[in-house]
Amino acid sequence: MTAVRSQFNSRIGFIMAAAGSAVGLGNIWGFPTQVASNGGAAFVLVYLILTFLLAYPVLIVEMTIGRYAQSNVVSALSKLSDNKIAANFGYGIGLYAIIVACLMLSFYAIISGWLFAHLIGSLSSIIGFPDFETWLYENTVSRNLIFAAIFATLTIYVVAKGIEKGIEKWSKTLMPILLIILVLLAGYTLTLPGALAGVRVYLLPDFSSLANPSIYINALGQSFFSLSLGIGGMIVYGSYLSKNESIPKIGATVALFDVLIAFLAGLLIIPALYAALHYGANIYDANGLLTSGESLIFEVLPILFDIIGTSGIIVSILFFFLLSIAALTSAISILEVPVSLVIETQNLTRRKATLLTGGAVFCVSAITIINFDILFPLILDFTTKYSITLISAIFCIYVGWIWKRTNLLKELQRGSSDISNSLFWKIWPNYVKFVCPVLIALIFTQFFV
Ligand code: PFF
Repeated sequence: MTAVRSQFNSRIGFIMAAAGSAVGLGNIWGFPTQVASNGGAAFVLVYLILTFLLAYPVLIVEMTIGRYAQSNVVSALSKLSDNKIAANFGYGIGLYAIIVACLMLSFYAIISGWLFAHLIGSLSSIIGFPDFETWLYENTVSRNLIFAAIFATLTIYVVAKGIEKGIEKWSKTLMPILLIILVLLAGYTLTLPGALAGVRVYLLPDFSSLANPSIYINALGQSFFSLSLGIGGMIVYGSYLSKNESIPKIGATVALFDVLIAFLAGLLIIPALYAALHYGANIYDANGLLTSGESLIFEVLPILFDIIGTSGIIVSILFFFLLSIAALTSAISILEVPVSLVIETQNLTRRKATLLTGGAVFCVSAITIINFDILFPLILDFTTKYSITLISAIFCIYVGWIWKRTNLLKELQRGSSDISNSLFWKIWPNYVKFVCPVLIALIFTQFFV
């Protein structure tokens, strides 16, 4: 058992760590990709609405559970009730969240490995190692295994250092760098010929796409994934948050930061696509939709980097560095979910627990790399499509229906003593009790129609 529970050292430390968790591949890869394939600005609009109507309230649910329970996700729900059945069911849901977290990290490491390979590839193009560069850009099992291993090692290294000296320190250093690079790259891209056509697609909504139910499903999944919900990531980070902080305020800061970065990433990537079109690249897929996902990041954008000459090498290095930072600060929070369980239940040091858990997750990545076509899409759908929304709804049900209202209020009053008179307290508890589970369930059923 741990003697004294670790804590983030400062408010800004928590904000950077939580924002680091939230800002990840979901923002810089996922969000622009979703915008591209879901009708441009209409998706941006639905995404913003769902983030504030559903994802933000759930973020507060997770952070409050975590700070109250002061424990890993498996024990956390069981602490909300004295009822044996609710407690046991809570354990079960916690274990489910741990499995989803491990699977999520396994695919995150694979994608991040690709990004690392492209980062090294861009760097080595300066020095000029053509054979090495070709190997780095080729999608082979050996390259993918090696770079997923490098990424896993770095993630393990940071988490093994602990909350303050590892997660907080790295997030506080890397997040400002990420913001600066993103602003620089978006600013530069907007000066390229053709980019303004992309800005128009990004910012002018075509309301007819709102009639398509898939836009809501995709925006919901995207906003939950982006705010790191549904695997207990924010429960665990909340458990390390000082009792002097106001959860609704600090949660709002994290959510705003996350949305801002996603918005900026869209302002980088969609105009970059149209700049590539201006230079003659094909930016549409076989169905006539804007290219998205891997082909967008690893094929179309590199064409643009090549065309714009010497500055393209620098842009390419910065771009893949940006994505790598985003991936790392998120991956450490995902790994912390199972690591906190292992530390608190197995009497192991943080170092051993991290190595063991990170090693096990890497084995899943390796198996997935070897059986990529079958396993990768399965894991992606199981985690990001079905599980995180389901688990989030259950977290809401625990807070709304099972946790005593007076205890919930007491926890929220820490750090915001006058909260009982606030608009937040008048709306939020009933909102997460009734509205969130019903809305999530409604959207969830759309997966099966
Ligand atoms: N929010 C991250 C992203 O946008 O890529 C993904 C994520 C991180 C999900 C941490 C869940 C989590 F606990």
